[in-house]
Amino acid sequence: MSVLDSLEEIREQALAELKSSKSLEELDQLRVSVFGKNGNLTSILRTMGKMDPQERAAVGKEANRVKQALESALNERKEILLRAAQQAKFELERVDVTAPGRHTLPTGRIHPMTQTYREIRDALVGMGFSLFGGPEIELDENNFTLLNLPPDHPARDMQDTFYINENVVLRTHTSPCEIRALKSVKPPFRLIMPGRVFRVDEVDASHSPVFMQIEGFIVDKGLTLGDLKGTLDTFVRAVFGDEVRTRLRPSYFPFTEPSAEMDMSCTICGGKGCRVCKGTGWIEILGCGITNPHELENCGLDPKEWTALAFGVGVDRVASLKYGISDIRLEYENDARFLRQF
Ligand code: DAH
Repeated sequence: MSVLDSLEEIREQALAELKSSKSLEELDQLRVSVFGKNGNLTSILRTMGKMDPQERAAVGKEANRVKQALESALNERKEILLRAAQQAKFELERVDVTAPGRHTLPTGRIHPMTQTYREIRDALVGMGFSLFGGPEIELDENNFTLLNLPPDHPARDMQDTFYINENVVLRTHTSPCEIRALKSVKPPFRLIMPGRVFRVDEVDASHSPVFMQIEGFIVDKGLTLGDLKGTLDTFVRAVFGDEVRTRLRPSYFPFTEPSAEMDMSCTICGGKGCRVCKGTGWIEILGCGITNPHELENCGLDPKEWTALAFGVGVDRVASLKYGISDIRLEYENDARFLRQF
């Protein structure tokens, strides 16, 4: 076989093997078998020294042609195999970021007390009230004295108090926020002041040593009891719907004159009488009244110029009625089986 025939054979064979090569390793082996130190093309080139000039020229030209053809074919194939290898790697490492998770996380819910608080707040904010607040640890002075309950006032016994020291208490109601508002906000204003309050109480179905109130406080000129009743009616119907019945019952608070309590028809028994409403068909949800002139004077406001209306709502009562919860303990114990129902 002539040298030129051998070159042609090398070319054909290499091209055929190249086409069927499946991996970069295979391709590299092929390259070595042609171009390597003992490669078949290298061996031929090595014999060229012994050829006469004419043959050498012809073989050299052909050998170059074969070399270039094989080199570019090798590179082309290498490209293809590289891309295929990369693609295979991508497939292997593919992550579907849109796939649903394998573990479904339990969905949280808004606590019924929070839901109730938000409903009351939204109803009142819708009527022009703004939010205001005060601390849970409060001066005795704000919690009692300036609210017209000086030391030794018998009405202090209405609220069994946690004393931190002689002058500091856990607030027994949100009413001390009224004092803070009177001292820092320029009237006229309409404020709601929500928060936790504390009383020394045995825990039972209707008592808890910590519970939540929302204080409402309106200060303006020329207000009447009718304004208070209208405001409370509107707010209660916004929260419970138009079918609910309410009544104002005369009562006594040192910080209001006159004072009243508002009852709502018991939604647990429909007014027939049950454990929750103690058989009366009514449940007290708030205390209210026209703020006692002493309280305004105590805070530097002229009661002849300004009138204040106030009310304090028990959020737990409202939640009980709204959701038919007959035991206040459920509202504060955070038993997941209970909370899951809301
Ligand atoms: N602070 C009273 C309580 O906790 C509720 C209350 C009554 C608030 C009359 C008021 C009010 O603002 O005017 O029982």
